[in-house]
Amino acid sequence: MTGRRRRTAVLISGRGSNMAALLDAAADPAYPAEIVLVLSNRPGAGGLARAEAAGIPTRVIDHKAYDGRAAFDAALDAALEEAGIELVVLAGFMRLLTPGFTEKWLGRMINIHPSLLPAFKGVHVHEQALAGGVRFSGCSVHFVTADMDAGPIIGQAVVPVVPGESPDDLAARTLAAEHRLYPAAVALVASGEAALADGRTVYAGDAWTRVTLT
Ligand code: GRF
Repeated sequence: MTGRRRRTAVLISGRGSNMAALLDAAADPAYPAEIVLVLSNRPGAGGLARAEAAGIPTRVIDHKAYDGRAAFDAALDAALEEAGIELVVLAGFMRLLTPGFTEKWLGRMINIHPSLLPAFKGVHVHEQALAGGVRFSGCSVHFVTADMDAGPIIGQAVVPVVPGESPDDLAARTLAAEHRLYPAAVALVASGEAALADGRTVYAGDAWTRVTLT
């Protein structure tokens, strides 16, 4: 990787374990994304304290203070612009975004979801996977588009399902896979080795192997 590190914001709503994995990766000056802002829509998000402890600027934009999604997204956009953000990383950010916002950040905003998309979108993902009787679950990183959990996939990690396990057990093992996958996927997008083109993810050379985890 050559060149400048991408100015990156991580958006959270809760505990922020994926954010923490990204902060750890980005502590290496050679990592292509520099996390310059952690932003939460919930004032009490646990991840805020972790970011502050790492010396990363944090900001809260409480969605409850806004009249509707468009007004909230406008405030979010203003905060990102103010910080000179080039890459937006959603990490357990539990707000649906308006099409205007997703269109503006298209190709520059990514999300992680705890299933092998396109299976099991939305919430209660591990319950869905266990009810579906699948032998493999996992996690996916994708570009964010207007349709929830449906944007072009950048990378995936596979997690075998243990017969009889609980949704919490599957969630915990999937989360460990997320913590491996997300730093690798953010690095690929920040370095330009994965990019969105004509509604598909395109990769430089064999960079895809770094986000195809078994
Ligand atoms: C993760 O499972 C992520 O895939 C989903 O929300 C959860 C967030 O966990 N979108 P954390 O806040 O990163 O610990």
